[in-house]
Amino acid sequence: MSNRLNIPNDLRAFWMPFTANRQFKQEPRFFVAAKDMHYTTHDGRQVLDATAGLWCVNAGHCRPKITEAIQQQAGELDYAPAFQLGHPKAFELANRLVDIAPKGLDHVLYTNSGSESVDTALKVALAYQRVKGQGSRTRLIGRERGYHGVNFGGISVGGIVSNRKMFGTLLTGVDHMPHTHLPAVNAFTRGEPEHGGDLATELERIVTLHDASTIAAVIVEPVSGSTGVLIPPKGYLQKLRDICTKHGILLIFDEVITGFGRLGTPFAADYFGVTPDIMVTAKGLTNGVIPMGAVFVSAEIHDAFMTGPEHMIEFMHGYTYSGNPIASAAALATLDTYKEEGLLTRAAELASYWEDGLHSLKDCPHVIDIRNIGLIGAIELEPIAGEPTKRAFAAFLKAYETGLLIRTTGDIIALSPPLIIEKHQIDEIVSRLREILTHNI
Ligand SMILES: Cc1ncc(COP(=O)(O)O)c(C=O)c1O
Repeated sequence: MSNRLNIPNDLRAFWMPFTANRQFKQEPRFFVAAKDMHYTTHDGRQVLDATAGLWCVNAGHCRPKITEAIQQQAGELDYAPAFQLGHPKAFELANRLVDIAPKGLDHVLYTNSGSESVDTALKVALAYQRVKGQGSRTRLIGRERGYHGVNFGGISVGGIVSNRKMFGTLLTGVDHMPHTHLPAVNAFTRGEPEHGGDLATELERIVTLHDASTIAAVIVEPVSGSTGVLIPPKGYLQKLRDICTKHGILLIFDEVITGFGRLGTPFAADYFGVTPDIMVTAKGLTNGVIPMGAVFVSAEIHDAFMTGPEHMIEFMHGYTYSGNPIASAAALATLDTYKEEGLLTRAAELASYWEDGLHSLKDCPHVIDIRNIGLIGAIELEPIAGEPTKRAFAAFLKAYETGLLIRTTGDIIALSPPLIIEKHQIDEIVSRLREILTHNI
């Protein structure tokens, strides 16, 4: 189809994920290499990565330690059965993860993605209530505009209409809290918004409606990413925690994008000082290099399953690739890199510079809100009348053409650069965005 250098000549077979396939295949965009903060395109251009791939390459691209660990592990132990057998690195990794996790999250189950981590967490929550003799607690509560991946559990508790409406009735017994996005009162807030903390009490209303004895768990992203970066109002997460504790409901944080340093603390739970009962991670766990997720659970949850005859499997769940040796090696090397370079807290040092840079774009045409926290940012654009998403997509295409990778969702530009970013690269992101927003959309 295309005769450009390095592009396959037939693009039809691959049905691409979350992509406008026909548009892409007419005008393909390929990355063929990456290093640190940059991608290289098929036509030899450098593109500054302002999204850490898809919120996952927290340590930057092609980091030698991670590459070497993968190469070495592939030559030493490629695969070990995950059921009834183990290999040392999966255990070493779990210990290392528990060491950096919020206190009290003492056990880890492995998965291969954020979506699998979410579904694993929901299953743990339901099964936990049952082993505790509270089998009537079968309801799961999510939130409008929540994103928890694309598997059936995740889209059921998720609240993005376009991700749900094509797929039937989903899980039953799910309810949703309202989202916390209040642009009329919170637009252009730096960090946590002042207004909306009381929306957590909507959970009380849902508890009153269904009765606590029917509710197993509540799941939220501490900071919503995929729906366009929604930052929790002050006090909101603590209120959710208090209501869950009061009613014996498990609180699940989906930290797939906030985990591993994005806010300047190892996890968002640390940033907000609120500890969930279950914490869902993936992405930054292996720096995005190899698919892997981890679900952290409290000792209380884990221990509740450790009853019955010792030869019996305690929890009927797992994946062929849970704790895969190469993924484990990649994750260990990723944690080493984070530690050696202080990356789990580096965003805290850069956050105010990042914030000032982004908010300097307030006067650009079509900008109706700017939001930020840690090394996350969002610029919301006024949609073109009758053509939602088109303005932001135009910005995405122009950015790619001119050497900047951004991500758009609806008419929102979402930014989440690798945590190794330097100040001059923040300046570059801001000035390129100013150019695009002013002249190109
Ligand atoms: C909060 C959250 N949960 C779950 C997922 C799903 O992760 P994956 O795409 O690895 O399945 C994502 C992906 O962006 C996410 O942002």
